Amino acid sequence: MANQNDKTDVSEGQIAAHWKEEEFIFPTTGFVGQANMADPNVFERFGEDNYPECFREYADLLSWDQYWHTTLDSSNPPFFNWFVGGKLNASYNCVDRHLEKNGNKVAFTWVSEIEEEPDRVISYRELWVMVNEFAALLKDFAGVKTGDRVTLHMPMVPELPVTMLALARLGVTHSQVFGGFSGSACGDRIVDSESHILITSDAYYRSGTLLDHKSKADEAVEQAKKGGIEVKKVLVWQRYPGKSSTSTAMKNSRDYYVNDIIGKYRGHRVEPISLPADHPLFLMYTSGTTAKPKGCQHSTGGYLAYVTGTTQYYQDIRPEDVYWCMADIGWITGHSYIVYGPLSVGASSVLFEGVPNYPDPGRPWRIAERLGVNIFHTAPTTIRMLRKAGPDEPAKYDYNFKHMTTVGEPIEPEVWRWYYDVVGKGKAAVVDTYWQTETGGFIGTTLPALEPMKPGSCGPGALGIVPVILDDDGNKIEPGSGKAGNVCMSNPWPGRMQTIYGDPDRFVDTYYGKYAKKDSKKWEDWPYVTGDGGTQGEDGYIRVVGRVDDVINVAGHRLGTKELESAALTVSEIGEAAAVPAFDELKGRVPELYVSLKPGVDSSEIESLVKGAISTIIGPIARPSEVWITSDLPKTRSGKIMRRVIASISNFVDVGDVTTLANPEVVEEIKEHVQSAKFKSGNVPKDLPESMKKEIERFGED
Ligand code: WT7
Repeated sequence: MANQNDKTDVSEGQIAAHWKEEEFIFPTTGFVGQANMADPNVFERFGEDNYPECFREYADLLSWDQYWHTTLDSSNPPFFNWFVGGKLNASYNCVDRHLEKNGNKVAFTWVSEIEEEPDRVISYRELWVMVNEFAALLKDFAGVKTGDRVTLHMPMVPELPVTMLALARLGVTHSQVFGGFSGSACGDRIVDSESHILITSDAYYRSGTLLDHKSKADEAVEQAKKGGIEVKKVLVWQRYPGKSSTSTAMKNSRDYYVNDIIGKYRGHRVEPISLPADHPLFLMYTSGTTAKPKGCQHSTGGYLAYVTGTTQYYQDIRPEDVYWCMADIGWITGHSYIVYGPLSVGASSVLFEGVPNYPDPGRPWRIAERLGVNIFHTAPTTIRMLRKAGPDEPAKYDYNFKHMTTVGEPIEPEVWRWYYDVVGKGKAAVVDTYWQTETGGFIGTTLPALEPMKPGSCGPGALGIVPVILDDDGNKIEPGSGKAGNVCMSNPWPGRMQTIYGDPDRFVDTYYGKYAKKDSKKWEDWPYVTGDGGTQGEDGYIRVVGRVDDVINVAGHRLGTKELESAALTVSEIGEAAAVPAFDELKGRVPELYVSLKPGVDSSEIESLVKGAISTIIGPIARPSEVWITSDLPKTRSGKIMRRVIASISNFVDVGDVTTLANPEVVEEIKEHVQSAKFKSGNVPKDLPESMKKEIERFGED
């Protein structure tokens, strides 16, 4: 009889057989000739012999108030500490230090979703004025102090980076919650971070509709109260300054329009506070294996050095460039590669309020043409959507990209090629950047002028980082063997999160629990576990195949199965729920929910109740594509729900041997029900990628 290991080996072998290694594609000489980083010596400087001192090169891109004495303190793994003894301020580094030479340079060109509305063009000097005045207001009116946490729930408006930088100026840790998340999700994050101030906006545009956002603040405050946290002030930025765009009432002596009170602080200046390198700059919540999102805490010195270095070398932004990252600042991509990295290097960026396909899929290319964007940054899900909705659109516009980034999920080689040939017109270097909320910045990618592109593989480890693929027993899987395993990083780097806010044990467990030699004080014994499965080619290039934990990556956003399930369980008729990923051509994965009902309840409203509950509790991005009502869920004899079995059914793959289950008969019944419904609606995946099969196989049970 085959044991567990044999089974894994067979499937890994099969995957290898199906994967054709793609050919290298080299950047144009035009690109190489102008790049910031085209010096091959950089590999030696960042080589293992020069670790960890190599990261000085990134830290030296910053302005320090006090230089550090120790590059890496690794005496208490995995709580690594970078640039110890150094002091700096992130707001100073992103704004003030550019004033002398580049005060008049554009920091942001903000583009409204409404095409007829004028841009807002903000120079570094104007940004400095806004940040100072708002910092003065925060200090005086909101009473925030160094060391506090403040929650933000803002859409894509210039006031969002202004707010982040004003808080950073004061040494207050910000926690921006993605604007599309629900009020209740925001409330939970307020509780976890113990924030007493909420900063939000009254409204923003989504696909042409001005959405009321203030109502979410009321829900968030309500939810926070249930969790024992009283929000003392809600500061509301107006979408149209001087005018209210919400019908939600402002609560007396709690809610204030910033635009009404900022006038009092006109001309005020606030000295940036000099902070130790390990002062927490921000929290960013992300999903994991439990229902409770994790507050990833990022440092000031290590994080800022890492995003500045990677922006300079990998985004390769030059002073004359126009850079546009189409992500939302509410995700880590926006924090690192719209706000902190680009501002720290003094870049001119585009900030876009809207969605890429409104009013039509030509919108991004019109913006690029009009503003002269030459560096473009987006996610595979957006590329797939634009390709489907307007395959020939890019050719109609006269823009010229020299560099294009993709981020957030694996990109299929055919999608990569459309991006390269059609969007980039065969001239732009494509940089596939693999990283996570936890890692602060890129961990696997290519230096665009020095390392060739390989469609579908992100590239080797980023400078100074040594990735390694480990099997379940902790043995190294040799590059080029074609076998998949757990993607790990063997050494610490400055951008990595410091801890999970309020839960250091969970931090150690989640990222180091699997392989670390717990008694060792050597960093070499503490590989960082990404939670992704992947392979490594002989050339060192990594190909991520998907999550190995119970996380579903929907359009580049992580959703925990537990989070989805606990939201579904708020519907009182539901007895049990299991969330699994289903393959989706545009979004990569979409969640499907399997639920069994309590005895004797009416099933007619269940689907809409579950979808509604998930949208309200987490946000519309988490809305399941299907809700399947079943008499029971497949379980092991010890009572664990076998998500792998139902995920196989949802994706039309073989469910494998189910005879050892406690209730094998239910599998056939569910399969019949789900697959015949899917056949009827034509929702049958044509070509299920091998990586998806692999992901299903690893999908958790409990
Ligand atoms: C997970 C992290 C990093 C910012 C956006 C998402 C997947 C991310 C890639 C890529 C293949 C990728 C991984 C990772 N992922 N980038 N270039 N190729 N997979 O941040 O929400 O923390 O998600 O996204 O599975 O673990 P996140």
